[in-house]
Amino acid sequence: MKVLITAGPTVEPIDPVRYLTNRSSGKMGYALAAAAAKRGHSVLLISGPTSLGIPEGIDFIPIESAADMYQAVESQIGRHDIAIFAAAVADYTPAQVADQKLKKMGEEMIITLKRTKDILGSARDIMGFKGRLVGFAAETENVENNARGKCLRKKCDLVVANDVSRKDIGFDSSENEVTLVYPDRSEALPQDSKEHLAYHLMEIIEEL
Ligand code: PMT
Repeated sequence: MKVLITAGPTVEPIDPVRYLTNRSSGKMGYALAAAAAKRGHSVLLISGPTSLGIPEGIDFIPIESAADMYQAVESQIGRHDIAIFAAAVADYTPAQVADQKLKKMGEEMIITLKRTKDILGSARDIMGFKGRLVGFAAETENVENNARGKCLRKKCDLVVANDVSRKDIGFDSSENEVTLVYPDRSEALPQDSKEHLAYHLMEIIEEL
């Protein structure tokens, strides 16, 4: 099957030298890409900046901002059977990007942010994706309930929920502990390395 995976953080520029980003290392998404390739799928990885090597045998589109990622996904998703959104996409981006490096002015600086487009939320209704759609949910409270809300609103077949308030799993750690949240049921998986977990997740996603 053809599998599209998003991974890593997005980088939202403020001026030529400064940006807003988040703690995603890309490890979860890259592990999924490697596992999908190992299981014989044709894989496209669309990733924000990370320090990871690109897994062998996969196609790769590097992006920076949420807008770049939206464009890349929109142009590619129609060719895929499965789409997995593991990226940590910025929900807000600076409303204006300064052409020149901003100078110090006074004791406070206010930066106005505007909403980015929800890529996962656009996959069905705007991009017309008909394949298996898997989202992630990074939550710090009410993990399962919040993830189910995302699953239903964004018309996913599955949302992989992780508790990002914990230091030992989630963002930038080598392990993760997730709850599989389907539209009508949930299943908690034990803590495991992102590599093992990714392989198991691919087995589950293939069965959807
Ligand atoms: O990269 P690592 O360090 O290995 O960490 C892994 C991870 C914690 C980043 C990963 O497991 C994870 O949870 N990824 C989703 C992070 C996130 O942004 O979750 P969210 O609950 O804010 O978003 C829900 C879903 O919508 C996600 O599938 C996200 O990719 C997608 N989204 C969000 C905003 C947006 N504008 N477009 C999107 O597509």
